[in-house]
Parts: sequence; structure tokens; C-alpha cells
Amino acid sequence: MAMTLSDSIQLIKTNKTMTSFNIQSLQSELADKNPRTILKKALEQFDNIAISFSGAEDVVLIDMALKISNNVSVFSLDTGRLHPETYRYIEKVRKHYQIDIELLTPDRDVLDAFVKSKGLFSFYDDGHQQCCGIRKVEPLQRKLTQVDAWITGQRKDQSLDTRQDIPEVQIDSAFSGADRTLVKFNPLLNWSSAQVWDYIEAHQVPYNELHEKGYISIGCEPCTRAVLPNQHERVGRWWWESGSKKECGLHAANLKD
Ligand code: ADX
Ligand code: SF4
Repeated sequence: MAMTLSDSIQLIKTNKTMTSFNIQSLQSELADKNPRTILKKALEQFDNIAISFSGAEDVVLIDMALKISNNVSVFSLDTGRLHPETYRYIEKVRKHYQIDIELLTPDRDVLDAFVKSKGLFSFYDDGHQQCCGIRKVEPLQRKLTQVDAWITGQRKDQSLDTRQDIPEVQIDSAFSGADRTLVKFNPLLNWSSAQVWDYIEAHQVPYNELHEKGYISIGCEPCTRAVLPNQHERVGRWWWESGSKKECGLHAANLKD
């Protein structure tokens, strides 16, 4: 993985004992390790860390993390446009694991102005970036100012265009600030969808009922649809837009140009 000079600066984490580490050596240590090892390291290294849970299959992260630590912080971006099944599923996960799931909502004033001027479905005409910016990216940005690191369920096989180069751990260049460095862990990066589903089956992990209706990758209701057998999972996301660069901004660091 290409690292910039700023990536390799020493990060100082403040907690009871001051700990310093180098992102490059951490990446080398975690390279090709299994998800549990990556998660364990993430949770050991950072007290102030959170899992971003999309209410689809990345509940695997929650299941694994709770077997490592009973102090796991989880958040989900409630765009206001999720499927009813996804809202039910979030509650199911909350009850199953008896955990809090922090739901982050868009800025009310910005959202009101946006809907007033462009309506509820402008993304079909001029692309998803503006709506995702308001409903997902800004709330995520707000949350990420409160943590030192976050954990995502991104996998390389989710996108040939944008996710092939994701590392086990990285400096999140999209959400770090001038005076603070944010670290991002991607423990499932090398797992296939089949491995995720093997885990769900083996550990009796709850899953979103939409998966029983042909949905694979699940986002907001107006921007997600079921896919046919052997179609790639991203085909069901923002299907009216071009195949490449299908990122909504949460993982903007994946986009190279
Ligand atoms: S997206 O950027 O295209 O929407 P995708 O659905 O592939 O992302 O999910 C990849 C990872 O991004 C998830 O495993 C999760 O960590 C995070 N993520 C995506 N959507 C959300 C959401 N609504 N709330 C919290 N995290 C999310
Ligand atoms: Fe808006 Fe669709 Fe993005 Fe959801 S996925 S925030 S509805 S454009």
C-alpha cells in the first residue's frame, strides 16, 4: 500500500498511559491477518473507537467485537430513507446483543432546505452526491470528530473500481483534520461475501430480512434494489449511475481522482 509521508507520522494516543505507534508498522503487523486479529488490535489500541454499522451484513463486526470486549461502541447513519426492514433489523441487533446503537441523523435545517428546494428524489436527476452529502457524510463527519478511530465493514470484493486497494488499517485522509489524525480499520477487507455468510450461519448472527428478497448490498430504499443471480452486488446500488466510482462519500479516501 502506498503511504504518504504524513501517514507515517507518529500518532500519539492519550489515555491512562501514553502510547505511540507508527501507522506503517501497524499496517505491516496487521497485513493479511484475519478479521478477529485486526479487530482485537483495533480495540486494544484505541479506547475511543466505534464500529460503523450499516444495518446489513456487517453485524459480523459487532458479533466478533463483543467476543473480544464488552465495551463496544456502535453507530449507524439514519438517513431517514432506510427500508422499514432495515429499521426493524437495527432494533433486532440492538436487542439480540443488548447494546446501544447510536443513530446519527442529518442536520435538520440543511435537510429541510434541501428537500424544500429539490424535493425527495433529486438524486435520480442529478446524482446521489448532494443527498448523500447531507444525509450521510455530514452526520458521519460530526461523529468522527468525537473518536480517534473507526471500524468499517468494507471488503475488497465489494468493488473492483474503488475497494481493491483498501488496507487493514489506514489514516483516514477524508476525515482527519488539520490538527487531528483519524485512524480507520477495515477488518473484513479480505473476506468474500461467502465468508461473511458462512460466519452468519455458523454463529447464528441476525441478518437483514431484505437478504431473503434478493438484496445483497443494502443502502437507502430509493437507491437500492435487488440483484439477479450472479449479478455483482454493487449493481443494485445507484443503478442509474455509471458503474465506476460508486462511493457515497463515507469512504471518499478510496477515490484516487
Ligand atoms: S456505501 O458507502 O456504499 O454506502 P457500503 O454499503 O458498501 O457503503 O458499506 C461499507 C461500510 O460502510 C459498512 O460496512 C459500514 O461500515 C459503513 N456504512 C455504510 N453505510 C452506513 C450507514 N448507513 N451507517 C453506518 N455505517 C455505514
Ligand atoms: Fe440520499 Fe440515496 Fe444517498 Fe440515501 S443513498 S443519502 S437516499 S442519495
